[in-house]
Amino acid sequence: MPKFNDLDLNNGNWKKYEDILTDSLWIINERDKSGKHSNFYHGNFVPQIPYQLIKRYTKKGGWVLDLFLGSGTTAIECEKLERNIIGIDLKEELVARAKELIASDKIQKHFGLGDSGSEETKKDIQKILKHHKKTGVDLVLLHPPYFDIIKFSEDKKDLSNAGNLQDFLNMFHNVLQNSFELLKSGGYMGVVIGDKYANSEWIPLGFQCMNEAQKVGFKLKSIIVKNMEGNRGKIGSGGIWRYRALNSDYYIFKHEYILIFKK
Ligand SMILES: C[S@@+](CC[C@H](N)C(=O)[O-])C[C@H]1O[C@@H](n2cnc3c(N)ncnc32)[C@H](O)[C@@H]1O
Repeated sequence: MPKFNDLDLNNGNWKKYEDILTDSLWIINERDKSGKHSNFYHGNFVPQIPYQLIKRYTKKGGWVLDLFLGSGTTAIECEKLERNIIGIDLKEELVARAKELIASDKIQKHFGLGDSGSEETKKDIQKILKHHKKTGVDLVLLHPPYFDIIKFSEDKKDLSNAGNLQDFLNMFHNVLQNSFELLKSGGYMGVVIGDKYANSEWIPLGFQCMNEAQKVGFKLKSIIVKNMEGNRGKIGSGGIWRYRALNSDYYIFKHEYILIFKK
């Protein structure tokens, strides 16, 4: 099997990688707050997610593409782990912030403003890759809005502004199509997504997004379930949510998914 990471498993060395998760259940109780991670952005993910996927699916000097850059959690991990990063977001202030924040000259970094589902953005990224003589990135990381749970902007191209569930899935499909074309053959993709609840019904966004990725041609490698303990919106409200659940017929969201795909 070709080697796609820097983990040295020989001579019993595999035992030293105690921090690398290999189970499909991730319980991460505390956000990594070290270094440049500031947790200012509502809707960011814990740095441990990009850390795990970068270590597992790329080598030093490899290329990572994050099409929902947000506050740049993936970019900070790339800088730390010396991987090159291409990050895209619709929000200008976030792109500007990433450019300022990620200053290391040990890596290549490109942060762009754009709709990650558009042909234009795909072509811009292809130009960057061509300039660096790369045919595709090694890892794509996607942390889209969980449909309309958090509104990120007023922009109609923002997935959180999709008019209905089908529109959201269509918009995400376009991002997946671009991801497929920008990923090298044999490369990996991680999708971080949670479900939602609306009109007394559980909406399985995670599985619906997984189906879209499979339609595009990705091969599913793992469905990881991660705890959402410590999710800011719910902090301190455990009691009232538990009362509401006991008084009704549903269960409180405590998990989200990290879906691993291969091209
Ligand atoms: C869940 S957040 C990502 C958070 C990021 N992982 C972090 O740790 O900060 C989703 C991001 O996707 C962006 N976004 C939504 N629709 C987009 C689109 N069509 N193209 C590019 N970015 C988009 C939003 O502006 C938001 O910053």
